[in-house]
Amino acid sequence: EQPTITVSAAHKISEINKNIYGGFAEHMGRCIYGGIYDPGNSLSDERGFRKDVIDVMKELDVPVVRYPGGNFVATYHWLDGVGPREKRPRRPELAWIGVETNEFGTDEFLQWCEVVGTEPYFALNFGTGTLDEALGWVEYCNSSASTYYANLRRANGREKPWNVKYWALGNEMWGPWQVGQMTQEDYAKTAYQWAKAIKLLDPSVELILCGKEGPTSWDAYVLKECIKFDLHGLGGSTTASLISMHSIHIYTAAKEHLPNAIAPRSAERAIEITASLIDLARIENKVPSSVARQTICFDEWNVWDPVRAPGEEGAEEKYTLSDALSIATWLNVFIRQSRHLGMANIAQSLNVISPLLTTPTTIIKQTTYHPLYLFSRYMRGSALAVHVCCGTYDGPTKPDWMRGTVDTPWLDVSAAVDEKGEWVSLVVVNFSDDRGWETKVEGVKEWSDVVVYTVTGSGVDVVNVEGKEEVGIQESKWDGKGAFTFPKHSMTMLRWKA
Ligand code: AHR
Repeated sequence: EQPTITVSAAHKISEINKNIYGGFAEHMGRCIYGGIYDPGNSLSDERGFRKDVIDVMKELDVPVVRYPGGNFVATYHWLDGVGPREKRPRRPELAWIGVETNEFGTDEFLQWCEVVGTEPYFALNFGTGTLDEALGWVEYCNSSASTYYANLRRANGREKPWNVKYWALGNEMWGPWQVGQMTQEDYAKTAYQWAKAIKLLDPSVELILCGKEGPTSWDAYVLKECIKFDLHGLGGSTTASLISMHSIHIYTAAKEHLPNAIAPRSAERAIEITASLIDLARIENKVPSSVARQTICFDEWNVWDPVRAPGEEGAEEKYTLSDALSIATWLNVFIRQSRHLGMANIAQSLNVISPLLTTPTTIIKQTTYHPLYLFSRYMRGSALAVHVCCGTYDGPTKPDWMRGTVDTPWLDVSAAVDEKGEWVSLVVVNFSDDRGWETKVEGVKEWSDVVVYTVTGSGVDVVNVEGKEEVGIQESKWDGKGAFTFPKHSMTMLRWKA
């Protein structure tokens, strides 16, 4: 039977939060040093910021960037990275085993964000850090009062507050690799206390709870303990909550193409389960509906195999076409699940497990850059209901539990209509390595002038290297008549006037 995709511009399912196209810059490998910050390079500006990196961040229209880690933050003292450079201490770095020079710190990152036109999202040190230190950081960044840390910011050259809105209550605190690993009981208690104090200092910030992968007892427990009906010091407001978002992390990867490309569908199930745990915590804690429903902050996601690209060696993955199709599937998942997502951050934005690799003279757009670019550019506005009717893949999956638990149609689809309601965009990933699918697309008017963007290559294993782009974006047109054939191992975006 011929596959059919049905999409209707009138049937919106939810708004797409633009922050799902967020990035992440950790003090790890060549992300900051030799990446974002490369003083002395002829491609850098007077502050040492690589201009070509800034241009690509602008091209991607990255709305928010998480900083400074990741695992790095568990031993990071923000005070080491502010003030005159010559006085900043060099410190042993325990997450990736190196030396942190502190040449690049809070003010440099926030200046970089202003130049890029993106919003900062800071993670707090729940390892060796203290609550006092965290409060000092919030005051330094956000306070307009005449108090110690706000005045220190002024002394360091910044009069106006930076207004950092998003703050994470630690990173992967459940992980045995963490300096300061915690039990779920200890974490929930500490996170709740820190959240209370931080909201007293600055009620305008949005706090992000540290979850795991979503469907775990850690997630269920910390949500239940921290999502409450909070009145503490918030003026008795009945609409307040200390926690705005719950963070989860998942990396997918598999040696074989099909399990690799399809794997992000397991993250879709993780989002659904996490959303249910949020609802359950609210119901059990009798949180009134006037308190905005917490969303998910998927603040680390990507294709990454840490054995293939170890973190201690800088995790510079070389991405294939198969990985690009996986990224397109990840992003389809985020569009389909946009109702539950307040933010998502590809880990990471530069060099470290990134779609972008710098060399001393240029910037390489890896295969995975192209789907990310098309989504960030066109899949904004509202997600649309879309239905696909086609055969299903029934081979091995990674993780194994996916098989029989989530659907795996050969065509993975999502659709959006832009904010003005003018353009419909439909993304179709054809996982198949050996056949195209001639498909009826219901919802496209026959006289439409459909713009077609295709991301594919000669084989699923091809990679982009300096000077040779095997995988890019091809643009063409379709008249909307008859069926459309989605080529083997490809991502296609069809765009037409609503
Ligand atoms: O993104 C790389 C690392 O992966 C992060 O530092 C950590 O949070 C995760 O384990």
